Amino acid sequence: MDVHRAFRMKGGVGDNSYSNNSSLQKGVADKVKHITTEAIRQVFVTKKPKSLGIADLGCASGPNALSTIKQVVEAVENASGTIQQPPPEFRIYLNDLHSNDFNTVFQGLPDLYEELSSKTKQQQPPLYIAACPGTFYGRLFPDHSLHFVYSSNSLHWLSMVPRGIYDEEGRSMNRKSVYISERSPPGVRRAYLGQFQEDFSLFLKSRSHELIPGGRMVLVMLGRTASDHAHCANSFLWELLYQSLAHLVAQGEVEEEKLESYDVHFYAPSKEELEGEVRKEGSFRTEMVEVFEMEGANVSRSYGTALAKAVRCIQASMLAHHFGEGILDKLFHHYAALIDQESAKRDVRSTIALLLLTKL
Ligand SMILES: C[S@@+](CC[C@H](N)C(=O)[O-])C[C@H]1O[C@@H](n2cnc3c(N)ncnc32)[C@H](O)[C@@H]1O
Repeated sequence: MDVHRAFRMKGGVGDNSYSNNSSLQKGVADKVKHITTEAIRQVFVTKKPKSLGIADLGCASGPNALSTIKQVVEAVENASGTIQQPPPEFRIYLNDLHSNDFNTVFQGLPDLYEELSSKTKQQQPPLYIAACPGTFYGRLFPDHSLHFVYSSNSLHWLSMVPRGIYDEEGRSMNRKSVYISERSPPGVRRAYLGQFQEDFSLFLKSRSHELIPGGRMVLVMLGRTASDHAHCANSFLWELLYQSLAHLVAQGEVEEEKLESYDVHFYAPSKEELEGEVRKEGSFRTEMVEVFEMEGANVSRSYGTALAKAVRCIQASMLAHHFGEGILDKLFHHYAALIDQESAKRDVRSTIALLLLTKL
């Protein structure tokens, strides 16, 4: 299956949309905001470009993309006042897969312009924003056209389910899981790691052409602290999704064979795996690499319901493609209940990996 065609965040602004269920991702971006704004400030202060190229890779739909744009523009405008250098024009490229609902992002532009011009007292901030659809596992921009690349909550998505998890008949070797779990044969772990290495290295190589020397990247994604996948919180959420699907199999709502052939195109890398790929690819200097746990989110409804909605707006397209749309309500109802049960017993926190890189 071509995941780049099937995978999309739920568009629009409805109850199940990404736009309305992405506060957890916003929390992650806010947590590293000081790193993001300092990184762009340093690029501006050292390079003093008249035209500053910025890309947000995997922007999705909804308010998160524009909220980051606002932060970086304000950081540069503040820096320009401090060093008495006129602010640059901003070329801002919002990237996601072709099927992304870019319209919902663009509908927020009038508010962004208004907020920025009320602060800068200018009629029209020198902001030129464009969508750039396509996969970030490959070239997206002309040579040396970017000063700063940002990507949040996106790089844990692989370009495909690794081919190496299938046997010669094309059957998944990971039949009793949807991601790496304690039950996965060792070949499955190797195949996922290999796919991550191939994809991340291609990502770095592509960006290395597009960024100017001294340009910076802030990359934030789901990651893991344990060397073992099975004991990491992100894997645990996939395990609960597997259990929810298995519950539907037991109820006769889903065929067992369908569940056995479902695997996700996801990988949560460790700090060492990220550092290793940056070193091997060789175009960037690592300024910072950290893996940390997010605090439990503050949500008005049950944690299970909030988390299930967050996962649903991301995974619904892939699940509907494989199992049919009809299972989604029951599946996520059960999933929410399982998360509530488990979070009463243990902390279910996501683990985040942060990388700050400078182009050599
Ligand atoms: C969970 S959303 C994160 C969106 C936003 N950055 C945020 O923090 O709210 C992940 C986004 O990455 C996009 N994505 C996944 N793989 C991609 C790829 N290969 N190229 C471009 N975008 C991709 C998805 O379509 C999705 O919109």
